[in-house]
Amino acid sequence: MSEPLTAVSYVSRAVEPFDDERLAALLAQSRRANHEHDLSGMLLYRRGRFFQVLEGPADAVDALMAKIRRDPRHDEVRVLLREQIDERRFEEWTMGYEPIGVPATPAPEGFRDTFDDLESDDDDASIRAVRELTVWFRARTATPA
Ligand SMILES: Cc1cc2nc3c(=O)[nH]c(=O)nc-3n(C[C@H](O)[C@H](O)[C@H](O)COP(=O)(O)O)c2cc1C
Repeated sequence: MSEPLTAVSYVSRAVEPFDDERLAALLAQSRRANHEHDLSGMLLYRRGRFFQVLEGPADAVDALMAKIRRDPRHDEVRVLLREQIDERRFEEWTMGYEPIGVPATPAPEGFRDTFDDLESDDDDASIRAVRELTVWFRARTATPA
């Protein structure tokens, strides 16, 4: 196997709401840079809140997290989970993205349209929510555009 992989999941709050144009610019920038650094992951945005998973070599993940923490476009960055993983969950995504607008397809059973439960102080609840969102995202984007 190659070097160990790390995954970090966090939530944050946009300082100003992101419209489509700002999100597109952020994603274009992120995808280019992530490709260069062997990073993959996914980003969700809903009602001024971000949820992101970053995965790749630990050094690259940590270096990017340090930049992201300093990014003035958002605040209240809160890491929910940092873990070693055996394989990538978002292999095909330099940064997969879902706006979670009004769902085009019915939301899965039990899925909420905010990340409020990710804000909970209960670590187990946060970890469960990260897992659920991961499964949800992968199911929803099974065929990358
Ligand atoms: C919610 C959010 C998610 C971000 N995700 C990434 C990302 O996946 N990859 C990336 O390179 N930059 C991402 N950025 C941008 C970084 O914070 C930073 O602007 C970028 O790495 C450029 O840094 P530099 O100008 O020092 O090279 C994100 C920013 C925000 C606000």
